[in-house]
Amino acid sequence: MAYQTLIVEITDHVALIRLNRPEALNALSGQLVSELAAAMKAADADADVRCIVLTGSEKAFAAGADIKEMASKSYVDVLTGDLFGPEIEVIQRVRKPVIAAVAGYALGGGCELAMMCDFIICADNAKFGQPEINLGVIAGIGGTQRLTRFVGKSKAMDMNLTGRFMDAAEAERSGLVSRVVPADKLLDEAMGAAKKIASKSAIATMVAKEAVNRSYETTLREGLLYERRAFHALFATEDQKEGMSAFAEKREAQFRDR
Ligand code: CAA
Repeated sequence: MAYQTLIVEITDHVALIRLNRPEALNALSGQLVSELAAAMKAADADADVRCIVLTGSEKAFAAGADIKEMASKSYVDVLTGDLFGPEIEVIQRVRKPVIAAVAGYALGGGCELAMMCDFIICADNAKFGQPEINLGVIAGIGGTQRLTRFVGKSKAMDMNLTGRFMDAAEAERSGLVSRVVPADKLLDEAMGAAKKIASKSAIATMVAKEAVNRSYETTLREGLLYERRAFHALFATEDQKEGMSAFAEKREAQFRDR
């Protein structure tokens, strides 16, 4: 499918989805959100794709919701249209692993979009923030909720109340991102991680993702039981037999997603 606000390429079983509205620092317009939801759904359904990388440009992952598009909307407009509701939530329903590769600004909805991915690798020029407070509103796609789970109450309050930006070093220190790399190595690093994930059993990566995500939704006791049962269930797969035999035979496992 041809997109106007995205560039999608598939190489080595990895779908690279690049936000592409350079004139607006990849601000999340209605069209971009619709196209992103469609591209994510398509990658999730494509048997050739085993991992997804979402990125922007060197200057901006995304500078937030499109302020110019939202500015004149009324309460009734955003309520009845459920602005940033079900469409963007498609990303959360993707079952394949999704890595955010963030360079430059990841602000407002851009920071929230990165946090909807499974993990974030960022460039050393990345800047994260929830500056909605400067616009007389608050975050609307998880900036008060997911960010608090990532970095704790104190930093989440600081970011949401002052609107200040967090640089890459602080983001790594706070647990918002998993790795920081030089800007010119960002895509190599993210694609390398994605290809590594793509080489595993797709059944195991899908179940691992579900189990980690479960930890956000349930108690520790329930989460541990869920994890143990999921671990047990993987013994029904050929990939478990192959992975463990390959270890004993000192060879690379050949997973077949069965
Ligand atoms: N929406 C619409 N257009 C945007 C935009 C946004 N969020 N962010 C940047 N742009 C546009 C600018 O208007 C500008 O367009 P023009 O050249 O036509 O004027 C172009 O992108 C380049 O931006 P700047 O000239 O401002 O670039 P800069 O380098 O001077 O500043 C910046 C960069 C600090 C990111 C600044 O653009 C900025 O503060 N952007 C807004 C960030 C923000 O407030 N995000 C939160 C949005 S609300 C939200 O996301 C709600 C939610 O939770 C769902």
